[in-house]
Amino acid sequence: MKILFVGDVYGTKGIEALERFLPEIKRDTGYHMLIINGENSADGLGIREAEYKAMMQLGAHAITLGNHGFSKREIFNFIDDSRLVRPINYPQNTPGKGLQIVRFNNETLAVISVMGRVFMHDPLNNPFEALDNVLANVKADIILVDVHAEATSEKLAIAHYLDGRVTAVVGTHTHVQTNDAMQLPKGTLYITDVGMTGALFGILGADKELVMQKFLTGMPTRLKPSDSFNLQLNAVLIDPDSKTIKTIQKFN
Ligand SMILES: [Fe+2]
Ligand SMILES: [Fe+2]
Repeated sequence: MKILFVGDVYGTKGIEALERFLPEIKRDTGYHMLIINGENSADGLGIREAEYKAMMQLGAHAITLGNHGFSKREIFNFIDDSRLVRPINYPQNTPGKGLQIVRFNNETLAVISVMGRVFMHDPLNNPFEALDNVLANVKADIILVDVHAEATSEKLAIAHYLDGRVTAVVGTHTHVQTNDAMQLPKGTLYITDVGMTGALFGILGADKELVMQKFLTGMPTRLKPSDSFNLQLNAVLIDPDSKTIKTIQKFN
């Protein structure tokens, strides 16, 4: 079974990039399951039912979230849907789930999301302990963990901590694909960051003029998604049978 994991989809350009590139990736790779990080799909902040449905219609089996997961209040209308995965290390009473089991033919795929704490501002539980707790009870053929974190060291530490216990650990959140896709010593497949999906000539998906303005003035600036005509899609293809993880980058 091959799994395509697509990095942070940002705004309507992100959905457009999925529509533009997924058919050719499907044709070229023959992936069976599609997992998408959707934390930025609604104008760069959060997710609404419209984006959720659009990604489901494009064949997504699960949507992972991150620090922007709850940015749009509309999410509380569908947070309990079985295809939505928010970071597992939120406090106990936070709505939603950090683990979902998805089935394909006779195989089960566990999708887990976890958030880092270094350079992140959310009051989260220790990600290592949260992962230990969830993994103690997970039964699935394939286990995939989306580590949503800023610091490369924290992502690598989590990956080595899970090495041999899960099928793959893929990083999200920094929106720039890293060049370190590899198999760790005990067999877990890993990449520090999958990268983003949306406008090509924005800054991490946002309008570049506004981001530059923010840096130039030091003033708070409300960002909006870039409307750059050109698109990008960044993903990884995970093949647990051949023990490979391959990066995929599409631009136009
Ligand atoms: Fe993101
Ligand atoms: Fe994020």
